[in-house]
Amino acid sequence: MTIQIDEARLREELAELATFTGVEQPSEGTAVTRVVFTEDDLRARAWLKGLAEAEGFSVREDAVGNTYIRMVGTEPELPAVATGSHMDAIPHAGMYDGTVGVLGGLEAMRALKQSGMKLRRSVELLLLTSEEPTRFGIGCLGSRLVAGTLDAARADAMTDKDGTTLAEVRKAAGFTGTLDSVKLAKGHYHAWVELHIEQGPLLEREGIPLGLVTSIAAPAGYRFTIAGCGGHAGALLMPDRKDALCAAAELILATERHALATGAIDTVATVGTCDVYPGAVNSVPSRVVLQLDIRDTEPARRESVMQAVRQECRALQQRRGVTITEEFVNADEPAACSAHTIALLEEICADAGIVYKKMVSRAYHDSLFMAQIAPISMIFIPCRGGVSHKPDEYASPADIARGTSVLAAVLAKLAEE
Ligand code: GLV
Ligand code: MN
Ligand code: MN
Repeated sequence: MTIQIDEARLREELAELATFTGVEQPSEGTAVTRVVFTEDDLRARAWLKGLAEAEGFSVREDAVGNTYIRMVGTEPELPAVATGSHMDAIPHAGMYDGTVGVLGGLEAMRALKQSGMKLRRSVELLLLTSEEPTRFGIGCLGSRLVAGTLDAARADAMTDKDGTTLAEVRKAAGFTGTLDSVKLAKGHYHAWVELHIEQGPLLEREGIPLGLVTSIAAPAGYRFTIAGCGGHAGALLMPDRKDALCAAAELILATERHALATGAIDTVATVGTCDVYPGAVNSVPSRVVLQLDIRDTEPARRESVMQAVRQECRALQQRRGVTITEEFVNADEPAACSAHTIALLEEICADAGIVYKKMVSRAYHDSLFMAQIAPISMIFIPCRGGVSHKPDEYASPADIARGTSVLAAVLAKLAEE
């Protein structure tokens, strides 16, 4: 029986999903901002549920808005095979990050239904809530709660930049249950496979149309608050200053230096937000809050960079008379992909004559947390210039369709086990 992906439908649906954003469009590319539980996010969710229901798939939502779209197998009591990703997008992002895994997953399920195969296991598509850390400062919110690695009370108490808690925001969006109920047991799924754009340059550079992920690097996040002393930008004399932003600038550069100093290509550190108070052009900054995102395939090496950063903080406090406090956000372990699923994927590629590359994912994904409850794997699609998290992010319809057909094929094999 043949599994036929409708490339045109998938391309059109990706384009339609990209319209669920209020952001102004650049002259080139497609800009998407879709922050969790905003109106655009809720509209996109409703649209996806409509597509799923039109196929006759069942839809369930949990207390954090993770959405479970199920095609029931002939032995529904068996653990299902799952796929999925996210639809939220960071400010001014592109239209493929996460969405390819959600709409590709839906297309794969439709193709399996259309093929007439009677699969033993149910196949389930998960739309996971807030893979991006934009609103609450922590990524993979939905999948962390599914895996039980994020405490429910801590999650509900997290606040956005307006001081609104997750508990308030999710309830206003209609997700009213307790967060404890989101967790799924280990073994709940027989397997999990996520389709995603590579978000890096290697596949395109090497002319390879598909990547099979072997492991996902370990991310960590910390928030630093630097308290100095503000004052009049004209009247406060330079020798008397405790400028929090100058201290922050030193800390940011020191972080870059220490990440480079490991000499490992897998160590990456980024300060992506820096909030300056009071934020007036003629006022010496009294306080700065910055968020550090640091990742490595080796958690011990990542921690050694953090130790060096903390040493810099102590030195800065002494030298500049500021106070620096560190807040832990997350420090995760890397995840290994299932050798069994990779072997199935290799077989599928060999049969279809698809050249592939085995590779590490340096970006994190919901798969990192799904690994706590199921054997995971990921299929990567090339993206132009390795660009992601920007409006010029692009993956070709043919590459997306190829990845989706491999996804459908592996879901079918796993569902027959
Ligand atoms: C996911 O968006 C990541 O930051 O890796
Ligand atoms: Mn992303
Ligand atoms: Mn993503």
